[in-house]
Amino acid sequence: KEAKLWGGRFEESVTDSVEKFTESISFDKALFKHDIMGSRAHATMLAHQGLMSDDDRDSILQGLDEIQRCIEAGEFVWRADREDVHMNIEAALTDLIGEPARKLHTARSRNDQVCTDFRLWCRDAIDHILEAIKHLQVALVSLAMKNEGLIVPGYTHLQRAQPVFLQHLLLAYVEQLERDAGRLTDCRARLNFCPLGACALAGTGLPIDRFMTSDALGFTAPLRNSIDAVSDRDFVLEFLSSNSITAIHLSRLGEEWVLWASEEFGFLIPSDSVSTGSSIMPQKKNPDPMELVRGKSARVVGNLVTLLVLCKGLPHAYNRDLQEDKEPVFDSVKTIVGMLEVCAEFAQNVSFNRDKIQKALPAGHLDATTLADYLVKKGVPFRTSHDIVGRSVALCLLKNCQLQNLSLDELRSISPHFGEDVYEYLSVENAVTKFCSYGSTGSECVTAQLDYWAALLHID
Ligand code: ARG
Repeated sequence: KEAKLWGGRFEESVTDSVEKFTESISFDKALFKHDIMGSRAHATMLAHQGLMSDDDRDSILQGLDEIQRCIEAGEFVWRADREDVHMNIEAALTDLIGEPARKLHTARSRNDQVCTDFRLWCRDAIDHILEAIKHLQVALVSLAMKNEGLIVPGYTHLQRAQPVFLQHLLLAYVEQLERDAGRLTDCRARLNFCPLGACALAGTGLPIDRFMTSDALGFTAPLRNSIDAVSDRDFVLEFLSSNSITAIHLSRLGEEWVLWASEEFGFLIPSDSVSTGSSIMPQKKNPDPMELVRGKSARVVGNLVTLLVLCKGLPHAYNRDLQEDKEPVFDSVKTIVGMLEVCAEFAQNVSFNRDKIQKALPAGHLDATTLADYLVKKGVPFRTSHDIVGRSVALCLLKNCQLQNLSLDELRSISPHFGEDVYEYLSVENAVTKFCSYGSTGSECVTAQLDYWAALLHID
């Protein structure tokens, strides 16, 4: 067995089962690029500070290049007996260049190294997710543009409420995604501080320059407190919280579209290319991708909970428990990117069943609130007009008709404030034109929203 890098004080080697239980190489090898970036910056700083010669630095940098090439070419052998990505790379470097490699771990611990790598990894992951969010926003805005003028029932409590333009509803998702992007951007800014040089927990007596490594790695500044630097994972908690909120937004979109694709609604027609069938029922066409978007949101939330519980009982500073922080994050990032991508693809491959929507519109008295507003314009207090329209709806229920089918006499029998012009307010098509408040579903307001997003997302 090869001696461990930390083996000096040990008389016995660890058992196979402990080695297997404690290794992290099987998953933290995903950090290799960022680990190498960190080592490059660290070696460069050490040489600058006179803690290693320029020659040693150069052979370290060359060795790291070769190792990176090897890993990327799939030629690198990851060894569980070398525990984790940090020691695999350091030991491989020693195999490759010999003595100079033994200076690389000067004024560095795996404790600051691992969270430096992880912050760098999360930073890249955030950039990737931000792109995927934008891509979905573009898909939703484009879908909205294709469906100008389409009125759909708006729901509250999943009961028919008021008419809205479909564009208005689609843009609601775009707004939510924009806040998701904002949260990630905030998270990115807050995590972009450098732990490197915090060493095990207390810093070092060697003359290192933490500002130099921080700069070289694109961080805003070194973290101020070395104990905090190696202990804390709130950047992970924030990142996973933000992902969880996005996952919940996508899950709601998934739920809505699954519902809309049902025979009962029938508003949404997913193309065959984004649907799947049943192994027993030959007639079935299911919106599985959106069901799985809803389903996979559970993982993302679960991963957040895992991290919260992981951190809950940890005393300062580093504890090995923290090795458990990586897989949930890797899983969340992979999942959320997949969810965003499949939602975008779905949005590019659906159409709306105008016929079915048109037929659905008259039911549910979607124009009732507009009628109440009409009476307000005639000087009736809203609470009174609410009651008058409520009684008008009751009459419709009795006669099994719509508000627009009531005669003026019938309406006047309920309130003398109804005039000939009332019919301009009745019917879904008329009602929807009456909205004009900022942010409302009125067509001018919706067009303004659409113009805003088209400009922001560079869609023409
Ligand atoms: N694999 C470890 C982790 O992911 C690296 C840090 C280990 N540090 C230690 N002192 N054992 O957390």
